[in-house]
Amino acid sequence: MMPKRDYFNFYSAGRIVFGSGVTARLSQFIQPWAPKKALIVTDAVLVRIGLVNEIERPLRDAGIEVDIFDGGEPEPSFAVADRALAKANASKPDLVIGVGGGSNLDLAKIVACVLSHGGGYRDYFGYGKVPGPIMPLVCLPTTAGTGSEVSHAAVLTDTENQVKISSLSHYLRPALAVVDPKLTLSCPPQASADSGIDALTHAIEAFTAMSFDQLAVPPDEPFPYDGKQPIGDCLAERAIELIGKHLITAVKEPSDLVAREGMALAATLAGLAFSNNAVAVVHALEYPIGGALHCSHGAGNGLLLPYVMKFNLPARIPEFKRIAELLGENVSGLSDLAAAERAVTAVERLRVDAGIPLRIRDLGGTRDQLPLFAKKSFAIQRLMILNGRTPTEADLLSILESAF
Ligand SMILES: NC(=O)c1ccc[n+]([C@@H]2O[C@H](COP(=O)([O-])OP(=O)(O)OC[C@H]3O[C@@H](n4cnc5c(N)ncnc54)[C@H](O)[C@@H]3O)[C@@H](O)[C@H]2O)c1
Ligand SMILES: [Zn+2]
Repeated sequence: MMPKRDYFNFYSAGRIVFGSGVTARLSQFIQPWAPKKALIVTDAVLVRIGLVNEIERPLRDAGIEVDIFDGGEPEPSFAVADRALAKANASKPDLVIGVGGGSNLDLAKIVACVLSHGGGYRDYFGYGKVPGPIMPLVCLPTTAGTGSEVSHAAVLTDTENQVKISSLSHYLRPALAVVDPKLTLSCPPQASADSGIDALTHAIEAFTAMSFDQLAVPPDEPFPYDGKQPIGDCLAERAIELIGKHLITAVKEPSDLVAREGMALAATLAGLAFSNNAVAVVHALEYPIGGALHCSHGAGNGLLLPYVMKFNLPARIPEFKRIAELLGENVSGLSDLAAAERAVTAVERLRVDAGIPLRIRDLGGTRDQLPLFAKKSFAIQRLMILNGRTPTEADLLSILESAF
């Protein structure tokens, strides 16, 4: 029998600054690196609405030269990464600043990594391929969602093979995350809903994952996630509670700063939770579905989440009961199983209220695509190992059938 893994790790971004309006003091926060030239990696939408200007101005006032790559796109493709790298290579910054949702933050991570270690982004796909620390990277999230500002992941879309592909390395965690909930006030309802349900997925997958001492990975063998562990669990629980409280208000009343603050905190906590514990079968299924059906990462995850929860439930009854409580369900007097099932009901309700697609066919998927989705997902073995209940490929197909 394989010996058990007998310890867990916890990693974070180097520093997290959280507060409404803190963006105005960005030049103060980056002083430790004394940068001469910063490259902001962002997109045209955020430039157009003036959000990038808010970040750029104090930097210029502090005498820092600023270049901007504004070619970021949702779910960035290899072509977008090529353009970002061409700009970065010409610019030669000594600091990279990602501004945007997870798409732009991931692009900024790739830019900082390639500028630091050379080669191309393909050299860094998979786990542990980044050979050492990367140049200073600062991330300012403008969605309350992905947690990329603190995570070890950078995701691109391989449009040719219709699948998402990620680079995972603790060296990709930003040196500084500046989480300013005010930056999310302009986030449109759809993006708020999609990214918010992604954060919920991160927290639930982290909290219900395979435990660190049950992982089918030999001790000390490098692995991108540690499995369910107590520090990540604390963060996941708080994130779930905050999302239950604030997600729908943030979607329906975009200017409600209290809801935006709650969601911004939740997303960062969920990012810390998943990037130490796990993401699992929901994310594995979303990778080929998002690649083929071009839905956003959050919409795909939100669609799949309750179906995967139903599959996982028998193996994680106490955890699902706790999730039900955290989402405000009254479970008193219910059996443990009935209480656990309330977690699924609560997530289904949130999904409807947020306007997330409910079925794969709503995204334009067809039934004959399901076996290939199951096959491609099953091939992401690291995420199968991390799931609280280990699935077969046939299990994945039946989850997809139920979600169809
Ligand atoms: N690195 C990680 O740990 C991690 C985790 C989860 C997801 N992801 C990746 O993140 C991406 C999804 O990111 P996302 O959900 O944050 O959305 P996104 O970055 O794709 O943004 C969606 C759209 O919303 C717009 N937008 C964002 N913030 C705005 C604001 N404040 N005001 C106005 N418009 C705004 C953007 O311009 C964009 O058009 C996917 O590629 C996914 O694979 C990464
Ligand atoms: Zn995600």
